[in-house]
Amino acid sequence: MSDILLEIKNLTVSLRRKRKDLPIVKGVDIDIPRGQIIGLVGESGCGKSMTARSVMGILPPSASAAGSIIWHDQDGSSTDLLALNEKKLRKICGAGIGMIFQEPMSSLNPMMRIGDQVAEALLIHKAADRREAKDRVISILKEVGIPEPAVRYRSYPHELSGGMRQRVMIAMAMICEPGLLIADEPTTALDVTTESQILKLIRQMCETRHMSALVITHNMGVVSQLCDRVYVMYMGRIMERAPMGELFSHPMHPYTQGLLSSIPRIGANPEYLETIPSVSLDTDGNSEGCEFCLRCSRDDRRCFFGHPSEDDAGNGHYFSCFNPVQRTEGENE
Ligand SMILES: Nc1ncnc2c1ncn2[C@@H]1O[C@H](COP(=O)(O)OP(=O)(O)OP(=O)(O)O)[C@@H](O)[C@H]1O
Ligand SMILES: [Mg+2]
Repeated sequence: MSDILLEIKNLTVSLRRKRKDLPIVKGVDIDIPRGQIIGLVGESGCGKSMTARSVMGILPPSASAAGSIIWHDQDGSSTDLLALNEKKLRKICGAGIGMIFQEPMSSLNPMMRIGDQVAEALLIHKAADRREAKDRVISILKEVGIPEPAVRYRSYPHELSGGMRQRVMIAMAMICEPGLLIADEPTTALDVTTESQILKLIRQMCETRHMSALVITHNMGVVSQLCDRVYVMYMGRIMERAPMGELFSHPMHPYTQGLLSSIPRIGANPEYLETIPSVSLDTDGNSEGCEFCLRCSRDDRRCFFGHPSEDDAGNGHYFSCFNPVQRTEGENE
């Protein structure tokens, strides 16, 4: 059996706009090993959700994906999800992959009791009967921390708080006991206390079920609380990937360094918070060279005319940059 559960290889997603194909995910490679939590981090619009949607086969109609997304099953077989038809993809994704979306209110049906919504996936994918499904839903609602689960089964989404609704989403994603959880900004709409409880719950569920996860976020704090390994994305490209601690202590790409130095820290000078310089919104970045060069303080001529290939920094740490931050410069004090 492969140690890798899901292998995203050379994934490209393009959007059809004004009769032109605009690339929004550009040759992305991501490995999700069994039992690990992988973070995909980057700013708004960089292509994180499109990457996740490609795995689930739920891209918008104007988008198309190329490359391969290989699912390595426990029985030793491997399947390219991108090459499957709708019916076969639903079969693998329905039972094997669970997804939590950013906004629970728009992903839950407001007219349906939460218990029935959680049971639905089980009835479709696991051919359970109604009685059995109800028992399993009550038990998973309890597991995700919903008090009085038998009573709450009959609640409608609007009767729950934001944190409780997100717990229902987690229950829904977990009910078929998937091998992989994809969580797209799972805590963005929540306050920090609830966020930290939800992150703890996701971590716990991954550990007890030996489940893998792909966690998508623009928040480095979420990455530090949850992830084993991190991929940093900028304008559709992976700029750097490393184990979580390694990335935080030795960021090598100037973009990653910018992301980390823009996190407010207790004790730091409150008057001075570093930012990454912005570029005008009508630019698509530099299509010939490095996407980040227009915002980078370390750029030189090479950055404008060619894409840096990926370099190995050791310890499972890789980066794509002609002028990486040196270890002594990047040291976090
Ligand atoms: N339904 C859609 N139809 C057309 N274009 C879209 C659609 N959704 C996203 N896009 C475009 O695709 C690009 C990548 O979007 P994506 O949603 O993957 O970004 P993201 O990294 O998830 O951002 P965020 O952190 O804001 O969720 C963006 O330029 C966005 O405008
Ligand atoms: Mg998104």
